[in-house]
Amino acid sequence: MTKILCIGAGYVGGPTMAMIAKNNLDVEVTVVDINQKRIDAWNSDDLPIYEPGLDEVVNEARGRNLFFSTDVEKGIADADIIFVSVNTPTKTFGQGAGYAADLQYWEKCARQILAVSTSDKIVVEKSTLPVRTADAMERILESGKTGVRFDVLSNPEFLAEGTAIVDLENPDRVLIGGHPTPEGQKAVQALVEVYAAWVKRENIITTNLWSSELSKLTANAFLAQRVSSINSISALCEATEADVGEVAYAIGKDSRIGSKFLKASVGFGGSCFKKDILNLVYLCKTYGLDEVAEYWHQVVKMNDYQERRFVARILKEMFNTIAGKRIALFGFAFKADTGDTRESPAILIARELLAENAEVVITDPQALEYAKTDLADVIDRVTFEPDPYKAAEGAHAVALLTEWKEYQTLDYQKIFDSMPQPSFLFDGRNHLDHQALHDIGFNVYSIGKAALKHI
Ligand code: NAD
Ligand code: UGA
Repeated sequence: MTKILCIGAGYVGGPTMAMIAKNNLDVEVTVVDINQKRIDAWNSDDLPIYEPGLDEVVNEARGRNLFFSTDVEKGIADADIIFVSVNTPTKTFGQGAGYAADLQYWEKCARQILAVSTSDKIVVEKSTLPVRTADAMERILESGKTGVRFDVLSNPEFLAEGTAIVDLENPDRVLIGGHPTPEGQKAVQALVEVYAAWVKRENIITTNLWSSELSKLTANAFLAQRVSSINSISALCEATEADVGEVAYAIGKDSRIGSKFLKASVGFGGSCFKKDILNLVYLCKTYGLDEVAEYWHQVVKMNDYQERRFVARILKEMFNTIAGKRIALFGFAFKADTGDTRESPAILIARELLAENAEVVITDPQALEYAKTDLADVIDRVTFEPDPYKAAEGAHAVALLTEWKEYQTLDYQKIFDSMPQPSFLFDGRNHLDHQALHDIGFNVYSIGKAALKHI
């Protein structure tokens, strides 16, 4: 029986391995992590991440051919194929701080694999890594002279949070990069077989290692670029009474442009867009490609501008003073259907509102615990309230920051009646029925559309 190990039981490792185990009954999959709490949660009924459909997939495979453990060494020793799916955050220290990927977790894995292995392994980069990281991984693994053979592959993950299970079940493509040598291609084919258990072969793309590594960073950069592009136009819409929804629809109808990822918003969040673009910027600078670096850097700068512009608008429209005013944030997760708050625009927005001495109250159906951690240093100045009605009670303004479906069906008349007048609603996701809210009496401000005001 083939044994697969995944190091890193996070948002990628957990769901991806569960899907592999579900579809490969002849493969034993173990997911290991140094975080005992996380592994305990994976082994419980209360999984460590909120992801629609994940419980079903895990319940089907766990205990059968899917296992979660903290015994990293045993996992490595037993495995034929090792996925490395550890975190690769932006470096916060030393050279490249603020831009480069922090590779310490990944590097520790490489060394541990070398130290523990006594049989040949295929080592798969699942984490998002700078192009040519596989070269470094190979150099570490080949430094041991243990007689053990390691074949390194790149197999980046393209799932999006909130839709991870659908994305894994039916991926646009699976990408596998390997060396063109016979051994490299044999390793590629072994991994192709794992995915071919449920993914059509024409959707499994094989490339050289560097193309695979670079394709991941490029895909995220292109996706984020579309969001920044439409967000930049949203600012122009607000100045000209054009409607960004109509503009996005009109341009998206052009099949060369396409309609996806053109939803103007308060800004993109998530653990990867910003970090991966900054990593790309750093890589370009490293290779002396300053103009290319600056081109991509602008995508992140535009996002920062969009987040700050949202707060500036709140302040301006509320008579340039929000000191002492209660402002309810509807949603803290970086997008709907996830409890993840990493790089959520809500973090900066909450902090900027606090800087204006506003009284901030936060509601979210899944993300309140992470919100508390994100705002730990100012926690005594923030209220966390699971019930949106209670959060809005007495608030001068509601600012919708996450497009949770349940926010569309709230009783906004009831909310309006519980707020002092004039009351304001800032829709950072263009998620609500603005005309209906205006009819109730709200002063409504959205992204890239004319305001609907009574005052
Ligand atoms: P995560 O932080 O949720 O999970 C990483 C896990 O690795 C953590 O639980 C951590 O404890 C564990 N870990 C770190 N070092 C370890 C070690 N030496 N041994 C054992 N475990 C160790 O991260 P994530 O969101 O799953 O992302 C993982 C990688 O996948 C990143 O490179 C990310 O860029 C990429 N990625 C993420 C997503 C996403 O939607 N989150 C999508 C595609 C790609
Ligand atoms: C993104 C990519 O979509 C995945 O393909 C990739 O694997 C992943 O990053 C990763 O590498 O981590 P994710 O960040 O989970 O996935 O979620 P997205 O759906 O891409 O949304 C990212 C952010 O952009 C969210 O804050 C979302 O609200 C925002 N967004 C997205 C918009 O503001 N407008 C849009 O039209 C689309």
